[in-house]
Amino acid sequence: MEVKEICKLTVSEDRSSFNPQVQQAIDASVEAMNRSHAPYSHFRVGAAVLYDDGTLSSGSNQENPSFPSGLCAERVVLFNSMANHPDKRITHLVISTSDENNLSHPFAPPCGACLQVIDSVEHRQQNPITIILCGLKEFYVAEGVRQFLPFRFNF
Ligand code: THU
Repeated sequence: MEVKEICKLTVSEDRSSFNPQVQQAIDASVEAMNRSHAPYSHFRVGAAVLYDDGTLSSGSNQENPSFPSGLCAERVVLFNSMANHPDKRITHLVISTSDENNLSHPFAPPCGACLQVIDSVEHRQQNPITIILCGLKEFYVAEGVRQFLPFRFNF
């Protein structure tokens, strides 16, 4: 296994470098990506969260003919988690993205609005979330949303 440090993202080419629960979350994000409803952008996104009790939730981007009414995969799964499992702590958020054919290369990070929501979840649970981006060839791991969003809005 080769692990390279790029800024504050850890890059791993080897799925087996993750523990079995995280590997299940990786699989769940890809399965969720395949349930994406993206007839307009054709850009599919799946997101899975792993909770501290080992259970999982997942979601995918859901587009709408009224474009702003659609929602990103990350917010679908995170708002579902907050609504239905507010007492569980999220340890990992795994995101898989794809055009019509392949996983993204090297990766596609969450959009700014999703980063803001991830930050608010970290704030609510008082713990950072390990974010794993599944690319075509590698996995990119960030310890907490601060790796993408060093200055976060809150009041
Ligand atoms: N999308 C996500 O699901 N997550 C992001 O962080 C960025 C974008 C979705 C929204 C839309 O369905 C498609 O990708 C193209 O923007």
